Amino acid sequence: MNTGSIRSIRELVITIQFDGDMPALGELLIANSPEKGLLLVDHLITGNNAVCLNVNGDTTLQKNMTVQRTNRGIEIPVGDITIGRVLNALGQPLDGLPIERKADTPYRNIMQLPPRNNSFAAAKYEILETGLKVIDFFTPFLKGRKMGIIGGAGVGKTVLTMELIHNIAKSGQGLSFFTGIGERIREGHELYETLKEDNLLESTCMFFGQMDQNPVQRVLIGLSSVAAAEHMRDVQKKDILFFADNMYRYIQAHNELATILGQIPSEGGYEATIFSDVKILQDRLSSNENGSITSVQTIYVPADDLSDPAVQMIQHELDGTIVLSRKVAEQGIRPSVDLIRTTSSLLSPDVVGERHYNLSVQVQALLQKHESLKNIIAIIGESELSPADRSDFAKAKLLIQYFSQNMFVSELFTNKPGEFSSREETLKGVEKILNTTNVPA
Ligand SMILES: Nc1ncnc2c1ncn2[C@@H]1O[C@H](COP(=O)(O)OP(=O)(O)OP(=O)(O)O)[C@@H](O)[C@H]1O
Ligand SMILES: [Mg+2]
Repeated sequence: MNTGSIRSIRELVITIQFDGDMPALGELLIANSPEKGLLLVDHLITGNNAVCLNVNGDTTLQKNMTVQRTNRGIEIPVGDITIGRVLNALGQPLDGLPIERKADTPYRNIMQLPPRNNSFAAAKYEILETGLKVIDFFTPFLKGRKMGIIGGAGVGKTVLTMELIHNIAKSGQGLSFFTGIGERIREGHELYETLKEDNLLESTCMFFGQMDQNPVQRVLIGLSSVAAAEHMRDVQKKDILFFADNMYRYIQAHNELATILGQIPSEGGYEATIFSDVKILQDRLSSNENGSITSVQTIYVPADDLSDPAVQMIQHELDGTIVLSRKVAEQGIRPSVDLIRTTSSLLSPDVVGERHYNLSVQVQALLQKHESLKNIIAIIGESELSPADRSDFAKAKLLIQYFSQNMFVSELFTNKPGEFSSREETLKGVEKILNTTNVPA
């Protein structure tokens, strides 16, 4: 017999008893309810019971209803059919257009193991230009690597992500995936409209499981979009850019599921399995002999506290993090990057070359000096500084201003045209400031 029967319903957790063979973990079951709800097997317990998640929040389920096995996991259409489209975690369209499945449309199970040869990460360094001075200078964007955009509420994480997608699509540097996890619904719509206006839909695939979705969908969206990206990497042998907004919400959704599944939280209120869940997703976002996945992940920081365990967990996986700060935003600097706390392990002479590296060392020294002089000035005033200190302080201020930049995606609300600066122009601009003599204080 390939059917089971619903024994209990508690929130999104449905327990189903089977007479014969037990379903596999990750298998989809279909309830014989009016909504024909999909149930995802989470784990098995004694008494031939499978504990399942109510994927679409089917409210018509009742005790003793029968449930049909499918012998399959969640499989979504992948490949060219996803290009320029907006899909949900089950691969269904959210853009109002039909998905035209052909006989040869490939499908992929969204649950996959990471590539075995994970150390493949590009042996040669290939810098992707973002056109954003502050990123190209402080956290160079490298093919196959991971970058984080981290900050509290409303500091500009989403706007910066959109700008990166825009600039990369425009410069034709690859196929981008955008994954909206647990964020505002309208943001997906805005991205879609912007890309459409600029004729950039052809280089973007979008997956959304936003804050209106239940935690099952918000977890699955991460897996679905990665699966679609993996297909492009492995079958079409493409280089992929993978943007996720917001990775913190992925952890939060897992955490909500753990709570309703009755798992016991450990450190910092997170369940023990969260570490492996995050690790598997991160490891799937990697490169292999077929192609590369370069990722940019935004990380919301609750209460502006960078020491939150979830924030640390994601940060650990990244090659560089751009820290956005409220204080900087309040000074009207965009993107509101905290230049001192922003770090990248890729800012080394091997990767960016001697010239760029030496400039970055000088710039960081000036910024550090600016930081400590600020405290002194607060006490004794700027006029008491030595001429050399005053000049350095003024140069640092010029640099901070220099890294502020108008964006294309915010043209509508700033009324200022977006700016693109090549890495060469950025380096020249920095050199010019460093070499100025007689900087007006
Ligand atoms: N580059 C920019 N130029 C002008 N305004 C900006 C820029 N970046 C952000 N803003 C302003 O800040 C607001 C918040 O930005 P954004 O939505 O990107 O923040 P967020 O960090 O994603 O916030 P949340 O944590 O709530 O998702 C924007 O709606 C916009 O008004
Ligand atoms: Mg946001």
